[in-house]
Amino acid sequence: MNIGIVVYSQTGNTLSVAQGLSDRLSSQGHTVTVDRLETASPAGPGQVVELTRVPNILAYGALVLASPVHAFSLAAPMQQYLADIDHLQGKPVALFVTQHFPFPWMGGMRALGQLRRICQDKGATIMGESIINWSHPRRDQTIQMTIERQANFFLS
Ligand SMILES: Cc1cc2nc3c(=O)[nH]c(=O)nc-3n(C[C@H](O)[C@H](O)[C@H](O)COP(=O)(O)O)c2cc1C
Repeated sequence: MNIGIVVYSQTGNTLSVAQGLSDRLSSQGHTVTVDRLETASPAGPGQVVELTRVPNILAYGALVLASPVHAFSLAAPMQQYLADIDHLQGKPVALFVTQHFPFPWMGGMRALGQLRRICQDKGATIMGESIINWSHPRRDQTIQMTIERQANFFLS
């Protein structure tokens, strides 16, 4: 399967998980691209930002969408990016967000809910989702579990 991991990452955390997942999916025989969403400047919460690199989802049969949590919400660049996409009809999509705080209720659940709703409204088939709490002592295990579970979504 041709899988695009569309990732927004300001400080590298979300990107590092995306790369781990990419390696894993590649080892399962998939063609995988970590396709970065980039902005002209760091994005603050709720700001409208200039997107300077905009992944083309039409290139992929399946997607993973990954973003940090900003101010208890989905990071603005990912919101902006998805708002501009016509539809995700019939696309299998897996989701994950990373956040600093140790518990999902500290922004992760809300951001993931926003991400899920946008994708469902555009017709995506949600395969599964994860939250990675960066300051939780079991972060590394959660990352490994996320990679494992998300890779399993794409076992054919
Ligand atoms: C502007 C801004 C707002 C943030 N708001 C939150 C928040 O509400 N909750 C949280 O747990 N982490 C918050 N964080 C931390 C990031 O979500 C966390 O460090 C994430 O892993 C960063 O991912 P990245 O390195 O891929 O950009 C915020 C970070 C920034 C820059």
